[in-house]
Amino acid sequence: AKKILIDCDPGIDDALALALAHGSPEVDIVGVTTVAGNVGLEHTTDNALRLRDFYGMEAPVARGAARPLVRESLTAADVHGNTGLGGVVLPEPKSKPSDRHAVDFIIDALAAAPGEISLTAVGPLTNIALALHKEPRITEWAKEFVIMGGSYTRGNTNPAAEFNILADPEGAAVAFNAPWRTVMIGLDLTYQARATAAVRSRFTSLGRLDTELITPGLDFYGQHISYRDEGPAIHDACAVAYVIDPGLFQTRSARVDVETQGRFTSGMTVTDFNATPDLHNVDVATTLDAERFWTLLTDAFRNVADN
Ligand code: BDR
Ligand code: CA
Repeated sequence: AKKILIDCDPGIDDALALALAHGSPEVDIVGVTTVAGNVGLEHTTDNALRLRDFYGMEAPVARGAARPLVRESLTAADVHGNTGLGGVVLPEPKSKPSDRHAVDFIIDALAAAPGEISLTAVGPLTNIALALHKEPRITEWAKEFVIMGGSYTRGNTNPAAEFNILADPEGAAVAFNAPWRTVMIGLDLTYQARATAAVRSRFTSLGRLDTELITPGLDFYGQHISYRDEGPAIHDACAVAYVIDPGLFQTRSARVDVETQGRFTSGMTVTDFNATPDLHNVDVATTLDAERFWTLLTDAFRNVADN
């Protein structure tokens, strides 16, 4: 199986991304690292541990950065609730986080398996930036670097910026400028993965996974103003799906730079599809095979539910 390391800020769609990875025989989770984002680090870490127990995951959870590189914290409690999982209430975690900091966990995991691990980030890019500064060779060791973040058309937190990038633009700039190829699964892609009523009807036979997690999670998440009309976008699961099966995605190579100075545009991922190829640093996802995506997700959720 392919190896995946997931850096996240759970987060309702982060929770579903973890379920997709755990329930997919194509990937092995080598670790889950947490970062402040949707809610503070205490909650994102606690949620990751609760989800680990609930799903029966074995991979360690390592706690990461409690705040962005430079800026004040930005959270998204309006989208994910004050504890980060909306209406979901899972039991207190039985397990504890790893003794290692997420930054060291990422470096050590990649060093131990050069060329094998898909480093997948679905929260603000603070841990990734810190890991790059501490050990630049991770750009050689990672098999690929896949993120949910950014967009080439419009933002969601404001007109210019997507949440994960806006929450730590300086961290994102470090990650995008690193000499590795980034796969950007941005809003243009993830808005094609909407949990409509028809999609959600596929989850009703999943027992506790549905009644204790998917339904209360999506009921809360789906009421957000930006989602009411078409159903909530399951952003973070798209990045994990890319690692499992890149054939579900069309991508275009481009130059992407993160705006860090703009008065109104900080956190924007300025995407130039017309840059000369030598300047390209990102494979930008443009089109999702949504039908196959939902089948992948439903099959994985069934595996999680059955265990
Ligand atoms: C991203 O922001 C977070 O709220 C979600 O978990 C996702 O990672 C979408 O903009
Ligand atoms: Ca997230």
